[in-house]
Amino acid sequence: MKRALITGVTGQDGMYLSRLLLSKGYEVFGLVRGQNNPKLEVIRAWAPEVNIVTGDLLDPSSLLRALNVSQPDEVYNLGAISFVAYSWENAQLTSQVTGLGVLNMLEAIRLYSRDDASKVRFYQASSSEMFGRVQEVPQRETTLLWPRSPYGVAKVYGHYMTINYRESYGMHASSGILFNHESPLRGPEFVTRKISRAVARIALGLQNQISLGNLDAKRDWGFAGDYVEAMWRMLQQDEADDYVVSTGNTHAVREYLDIAFTHVGISDWEQHVFQDPQFFRPAEVDLLIGDSSKAREKLGWEPTVSFRQLVEMMVDSDLELEKQNVK
Ligand code: NAP
Ligand code: GDD
Repeated sequence: MKRALITGVTGQDGMYLSRLLLSKGYEVFGLVRGQNNPKLEVIRAWAPEVNIVTGDLLDPSSLLRALNVSQPDEVYNLGAISFVAYSWENAQLTSQVTGLGVLNMLEAIRLYSRDDASKVRFYQASSSEMFGRVQEVPQRETTLLWPRSPYGVAKVYGHYMTINYRESYGMHASSGILFNHESPLRGPEFVTRKISRAVARIALGLQNQISLGNLDAKRDWGFAGDYVEAMWRMLQQDEADDYVVSTGNTHAVREYLDIAFTHVGISDWEQHVFQDPQFFRPAEVDLLIGDSSKAREKLGWEPTVSFRQLVEMMVDSDLELEKQNVK
């Protein structure tokens, strides 16, 4: 039985990945921070078989302890401050958790492995946000990174530190440059879930409008359940490497709005949508579209959920949740 340690197990990807690994027969350990984390109950209900280990990416000794307890074959480092807008207001904290946290985990693995580079395989959750002001369309593994947010800068640090540990110590350390991926488990602060929730509530008469920022930003949106499969496949390769994971299609925020509102029978949706300066960012990533041919060829990975299916899945899920507020 293989053993895996997941940081960020209480997040969207951690929840999907934990179920994927359990379905493959892994013994799964999940790092949870804080003494009374409200998400603990959520992960316990979602996947009761996950063994919880307390720890924090800011606390190196807690990571070493988590490794000693879990004795993992594979570590998936998904823990991060992941909300881009928040990263301008909390730039140092974001740099420490999302950037230095990666170094803390890599160093803990190096010490735990006692320089046996084959002992633990490592996955780093890198991000298409690193492409920022994109230097090439579509973006691939070799595209020059030009981050546009403190979050993006921190991810670049973690990305290169992962490559550096692979090259310096021969560690099996892979970095997945994942483009935006969503699901009904997405946090409500991200634009897709903010919209699916509001559309459900507007359809049910629970609210009348939604305030958003830039509706013209374009993202390559996929389904989180598909993307955690790519993470796992990366760690099953003989050689560690870096891979872009994306659908290869891009859509503007207003296209997401159109499909979501149309799905609940509202065609004149503009009257429900307001733009509020507070949701515009100091620097925007205008366009993301990924070229995932390397992942498709080497990992045999491909997305299974279309953009329309994704939007409708999220709206349907929020309709079910919000109906409970009507009863
Ligand atoms: P998420 O839902 O925001 O989850 C983030 C996780 O990190 C949560 O479990 C959170 O724990 C944990 N965390 C925060 N601070 C921590 C700390 N100091 N120590 C340990 N854990 C900490 O993010 P996600 O969407 O699942 O994304 C997973 C990873 O992939 C992140 O690194 C993200 O930056 C990256 N990524 C995401 C996407 C995407 O589109 N979803 C794309 C590219 C890369 P709490 O529950 O306690 O807050
Ligand atoms: N969150 C949010 N809220 N975004 C809005 C809003 C709003 O009210 N209005 C417009 N947007 C625009 C943002 O300006 C951005 O261009 C786009 O919608 C997507 O924003 P988010 O959903 O917050 O995601 P993100 O692209 O900034 O970051 C996500 O994807 C990255 C990968 O590219 C996060 O999951 C990151 O952690 C991840 O690395």
